[in-house]
Amino acid sequence: MSSGFDVKDTIMQIKPYVPGESKMDTDKPIRQLAANEAPLGASPKAIEAAQGSVAQLNRYPEGGAVALREKIGERFGFPAEQLICGAGSDEIIALICQAFTSEGSEVLYSQHGFLMYKISALAAGATPVSAPESDLRMDVDSMIDAMTENTRIVFVANPNNPTGSYSTKAELERLHAALPEDALLVIDAAYSEYVDAEAYSDGSDLVAQNKNVVMTRTFSKLFGLAALRIGWAYGSKEVIDILNRVRGPFNVSVPAQAAATAALDDWDWAMDAKHLNNRLLPAVTQRLRGMGLTVYDSVGNFILIDFSDADRATAADAFLRSEGIIGRGVAGYGLPTCLRMTIGTEDDMDVLTQALTRFIESESA
Ligand SMILES: Cc1ncc(COP(=O)(O)O)c(C=O)c1O
Repeated sequence: MSSGFDVKDTIMQIKPYVPGESKMDTDKPIRQLAANEAPLGASPKAIEAAQGSVAQLNRYPEGGAVALREKIGERFGFPAEQLICGAGSDEIIALICQAFTSEGSEVLYSQHGFLMYKISALAAGATPVSAPESDLRMDVDSMIDAMTENTRIVFVANPNNPTGSYSTKAELERLHAALPEDALLVIDAAYSEYVDAEAYSDGSDLVAQNKNVVMTRTFSKLFGLAALRIGWAYGSKEVIDILNRVRGPFNVSVPAQAAATAALDDWDWAMDAKHLNNRLLPAVTQRLRGMGLTVYDSVGNFILIDFSDADRATAADAFLRSEGIIGRGVAGYGLPTCLRMTIGTEDDMDVLTQALTRFIESESA
């Protein structure tokens, strides 16, 4: 398609990201399970901090998010000067593509990897390359096979959205070892706070040892601050310096900085949210499997249900919507037979399982 403007060809190849829906015309209570959001909301202390921060809306934010970076550094044990904050980790993914690619550069990710890698690569004028997965997991050998002399960035979501699978520390190390030194490994750890698996790594250990590794994180998931758009990354001084050159000077708003700082102080709230998720995740997985549905193992705050057939997935989605439940079709991720559902509240999960039971009954009626 031609726009009549002289924009990069790659921009016209972008299929705009379709966010999970949040509204529907129904008289049933709406269960918003489409965007992997926090079902309990944000910490009351974070909300209070955001509210308290709006008295001086005429003032620009603190551009370097110094206090927040210090707080993140304290909480997670990273040097504040090796951190950068962004308007969601989406912005950081975009900045990475903008800064570390030029025309002809390849940006590699795995087959069902988070969609923003492809979109951000194309927006930057780079060429996206996807490597086949095995069993809905990033496959190190297939990623290595897909590397070329033009590979500049390799993205791995760990855990990955929408599959819920994770890569082990050993797999990340093997992938990194195969990467040219002038290419960047980005470990997108948006859901890392939920993961307890021993073999898992959020990638921070690789960042500490290597100049060419970055870990991205977000306040949108566990901390429930998606509306404020706030994420961060940990990388070498060299990488953070490069990203700071392309970052807008006031990219993170005052309420976002205030709320995120307060959210980190309210650690018990975050841990309660994690424990609720990690109790409901296996329970709902088991219940749905008991009903004969295929549910993939997930370590995030969502599950991927495979209906084995695209029409059946579409019918299940429509049925759930008629019951007020908004899930996420993932055909855009090459998974047309699946629906992704956020782990909501206990009540949300009861309503979901009951609705799916009725859906399955309706099929044989
Ligand atoms: C794997 C992954 N990375 C990054 C993001 C972006 O999150 P945000 O921009 O809200 O920080 C998401 C959001 O769904 C995600 O699933």
